[in-house]
Amino acid sequence: MIVSIDRLSLIADGVARGPEGTVHVAMALPGETVEGEAVDGRIAAPRIVTPSVDRVKPPCPHYRACGGCVLQHASDGFVAGWKADVVRQALAARGIEAGVERVETSPLATRRRATFSGRRTKKGTLVGFHARASDTVVEVPGCLILRPELMAKLPALNEAVGLGGSRKGEIAFALTLTDAGVEVAAKGGKAMDPALFEALADLARRHDLARLSWDGETVAAPRPASQTFGKARVTPPPGSFLQATAEGEAALVGAVREMVAGAGRIADLFAGCGTFALPLAEAAEVHAVEGEAAMLAALDKGWREAQGLKRVTHEARDLFRRPLLPDEIDRYDAVVIDPPRAGAEAQVREIAASKLRRLVHVSCNPVTFARDARALLDAGFALERLVVVDQFRWSAHIELVASFIRH
Ligand SMILES: C[S@@+](CC[C@H](N)C(=O)[O-])C[C@H]1O[C@@H](n2cnc3c(N)ncnc32)[C@H](O)[C@@H]1O
Repeated sequence: MIVSIDRLSLIADGVARGPEGTVHVAMALPGETVEGEAVDGRIAAPRIVTPSVDRVKPPCPHYRACGGCVLQHASDGFVAGWKADVVRQALAARGIEAGVERVETSPLATRRRATFSGRRTKKGTLVGFHARASDTVVEVPGCLILRPELMAKLPALNEAVGLGGSRKGEIAFALTLTDAGVEVAAKGGKAMDPALFEALADLARRHDLARLSWDGETVAAPRPASQTFGKARVTPPPGSFLQATAEGEAALVGAVREMVAGAGRIADLFAGCGTFALPLAEAAEVHAVEGEAAMLAALDKGWREAQGLKRVTHEARDLFRRPLLPDEIDRYDAVVIDPPRAGAEAQVREIAASKLRRLVHVSCNPVTFARDARALLDAGFALERLVVVDQFRWSAHIELVASFIRH
């Protein structure tokens, strides 16, 4: 079948009209004509008949096999423009017209968090990323996205699979670059016993890991696996949320700082370990609210040990079930929210009913962001500024930060 690509889907597949309805085409770009066999409405291995002017040679040697990056065949300008368009279109679908001020894309080799999969094979061990839409694990020694410090730990992960992996299941290794080196949080390996503990502790020592945990149990933590947020050093619980690149975090924090400038009292909702709360505390008192008490304990310790910050209070609270109410919200000059993909529907409803005048919304899902933005506009807010931050280069993932003002 030969089809012409009209647009990209939200997972960056090309979308075309075929003789029997919509066809999704892997690794295709708008304007291209492609040929291939459609199975269940999808052409997985298309031949590009007429390439787009935006098509480039994918630079990574693993591009065809690895499922990690889905947009390496497109120019940087195309990817940035597409991500901005997805945000604009999600807003337009809710009747909101908005311009994207800029797209801040993290450079190559800056991703400081990644989850590798590891399994035993007949011949030995295999550690890598999943192939596209598949359980197959693909080795990625030439990955262009990750920080070199993470790549350097691949031998340690292979060794850990040898010690604690099985041929049935996979181990998920969540790697994070900390101030003290690389932390590894492994899940799905063999049950811990004294011999495995000793072998893993030895592995952590030889590979100089900052921290190693195995299904939640800390095996080695020779140095505090800290992160620096502004003037504070925080040691997050193993496997905690962290912005994917330091550059992306700096772009988000920089935009949030500008957008709340002048506020004396700020609430930071879905605060995590203090990515925003602690830098903002250089100029304002901050109340940090988050569902995970352990993350807040880390934030609080970081604040107490830092110099020159204003007061930071914290509260563990499920903001989906028990959002801050209008009389609580009215205590703040500005509120920052950074919810998970589901968005912050319940919290935004209360913000709409409050007297709050300044809100900064950080989002990793344009669709739920647009839903929340609609509720804010209906309550008299105006969407003032919108910045797209791309820390997941070459993936379909999109993040943004937006400021809303109510006069
Ligand atoms: C996208 S992360 C942002 C964290 C932090 N702002 C940062 O940039 O590092 C979302 C945060 O929301 C928290 N969270 C998820 N569901 C929640 C809920 N129902 N109530 C409160 N916090 C929640 C998660 O634990 C996570 O820390």
